[in-house]
Amino acid sequence: MNYTVVLPAAGSGKRMKADKNKLLLELFGKPIFLYTLEVFERDPNCEAIWLAVKEHERELIEEYVKRYDITKVKGYAAGGTERQDSVRACLEAIPPCGVVLVHDAARPFIDHEVIARLVEAAQESGAAVAGVPVKDTIKKVENGVISETVDRNQLWMIQTPQAFRYSLILKAAQAAHNDGFMGTDEAMLVERMDYPVAIIESTYENIKMTTPDDLIYGRAILESRIQ
Ligand code: C5P
Repeated sequence: MNYTVVLPAAGSGKRMKADKNKLLLELFGKPIFLYTLEVFERDPNCEAIWLAVKEHERELIEEYVKRYDITKVKGYAAGGTERQDSVRACLEAIPPCGVVLVHDAARPFIDHEVIARLVEAAQESGAAVAGVPVKDTIKKVENGVISETVDRNQLWMIQTPQAFRYSLILKAAQAAHNDGFMGTDEAMLVERMDYPVAIIESTYENIKMTTPDDLIYGRAILESRIQ
């Protein structure tokens, strides 16, 4: 089953403590976002890649796309103030398609097998997201004191990719925008329409490069993959 992937790439380097977009930071000489692009370039089921980028970074990103021979990039949208705005700009820019995947450009270690399961689930039921069960004990803390220990058997950490029927996610993204609703992922936009979202078990390696320690994990993951 073919799909189009939308990659929000218009963030900053704030939590990474970098003075530029963290996606431009390099792991073994290659910018982080290129590892992500290569996953989709190599997936025969991926028909098109669309990127949300900051206007002033577009030229540089386009140059990298050419240099690394990423042929499936079909277009760019202007990144917005929030991630949700960047994703919506992309969704509004892409040609209508069957299944669309939204994936953080900052998650370079996503698995082909997880992508395939997500696309299949979205085709069947409309919406599916990647996630992993929480490993740690989770507690709610109020004013520096534990107020509750949450039953972790029902808790999952949600990642991207998140896969949807194109018409469903476009409608949900535009409805959220019109209502002034801001979510932390695309699934929330669909959930608020009372639409069921399936969960597909992913891998713990599918980390989002967010803080400086993630660079250490990222290098270790890449090293383990060459061995
Ligand atoms: O900041 P965070 O890592 O949570 O962002 C997740 C993804 O969303 C990253 O790939 C980042 O580049 C992208 N993003 C975006 N536009 C924003 C903020 C983040 O495209 N305004």
